[in-house]
Amino acid sequence: MTTGRIDDLLSPELLSGTAAFVTGGGSGINLAIAHGLASVGADLMICGRTRSRLDAAADELSAHGGRVLTAVADVRDAEALTVAITTAVERFGRLDSVIAGAAGNFFAPAETISPNGFRTVIDIDLLGSFNTARAAFEHLRNSRGSILFLSAGQAYLPFANQSHVGAAKAGIDNLMANLAFEWGRFGIRANSIVPGPIRGTEGMRRLAQPTGEEVWTDAVPLGRLGEAAEVAAMAVVLSSPLASYVTGARVVVDGGLGLSGLGAISRAVAGPVSGTPGDDRRTAAR
Ligand code: HXC
Repeated sequence: MTTGRIDDLLSPELLSGTAAFVTGGGSGINLAIAHGLASVGADLMICGRTRSRLDAAADELSAHGGRVLTAVADVRDAEALTVAITTAVERFGRLDSVIAGAAGNFFAPAETISPNGFRTVIDIDLLGSFNTARAAFEHLRNSRGSILFLSAGQAYLPFANQSHVGAAKAGIDNLMANLAFEWGRFGIRANSIVPGPIRGTEGMRRLAQPTGEEVWTDAVPLGRLGEAAEVAAMAVVLSSPLASYVTGARVVVDGGLGLSGLGAISRAVAGPVSGTPGDDRRTAAR
C-alpha cells in the first residue's frame, strides 16, 4: 500500500463547517495540504506572493466544493497577514486550522552566503511562521484550533549548503514547541511536520540537482521518494479532531530517511575536500 485519496480514507465531512488558512498555499506541498483540507470539507484561504499562482490554485481547490479565498500577502509582512486572516474570518465566520508553510530556499555554502541571503531565509521561514501564528492567535483561541508548521530534516541533521535553512527550520520547531506550551491553556494545538524528499517539489528539484534523485531514493528505508499527498494526509490528521490530544509534536514524514542520516549525500553535495595538501582537512583532523 502506498498512497490513497484522503477523502476515500477519511470522512469527507471530517472538517466540514471549519475554516483553514494556508500560507504559501499556491504551490508545492502547501497546495497539496490545501487540497487535503478542502477534500474533507474545510473552507480555505490560501495566501502567497504571486496572484496568478493563487488564482490557478483556487480554481483547482474549488473543485472540492467548499469556499476558497485567496490573498496576496508576503509572510514577512505582518500587517498584510493580519489583513488576510481578518478577511478570512469575516467571510468564513471562524478560523480553525492554520498551516504555516511558506518557505524560501536556495543552496549556498556558509562561507559565501551574504548576511542578507541568510536573513532572507530566516525572515521568510521563521519570522514568517511567527507572524502567521501571531496574526491567527485570537481566532484560534476562539475556535480552540490548531496551527501546523512546516519544518525540514535540516533542522536536526546538518546538510551541506543549507546552514540558513537548518537554522530557520530549527527555529520553527522551537517556536512550535513554545507555542504548544504557552497556548495549550487556550486550547490551541501546535505541531510541525518534517517532510522528507517529496517527488515533484521545488525543494526536491533543488536538492537533487547536484546528485540526482536516485541517491536520495537509495537512502530512504522505504526505497522511494514521498508524494505530496502523503504529507497532506498527515497534515489533515494533525489539523483535525483525530489529533485532539497531540500538541508539541514534530511528526516526521520522510520514509525513514532521517534514520540513516544524510552524511553521504551531504558530502556529495558539498564537493571534495578542498585546500592544499598541507592543510587538508583530513590531515588536520588526525
Ligand atoms: C546565494 C542568494 C541566492 C542564491 C538569493 N540570494 N538567491 N544567495 N545563492 N541562489 C541572496 C541574494 O543575493 C540577496 O542577498 C538575498 O538572498 C535576498 O535575495 P532576493 O532575491 O532579493 O530575495 P527575495 O526576492 O525575497 O526571494 C527570496 C528567495 C527566493 C528565498 C531568495 O529564492 C524565493 O522567493 N524563493 C521562494 C520559492 C522557494 O524558494 N521555494 C523552495 C522552497 S523549498 P544580497 O546580499 O545579494 O542582497 C523549502 C524546503 C526546504 O524551503 C527544505 C528542503 C529543500
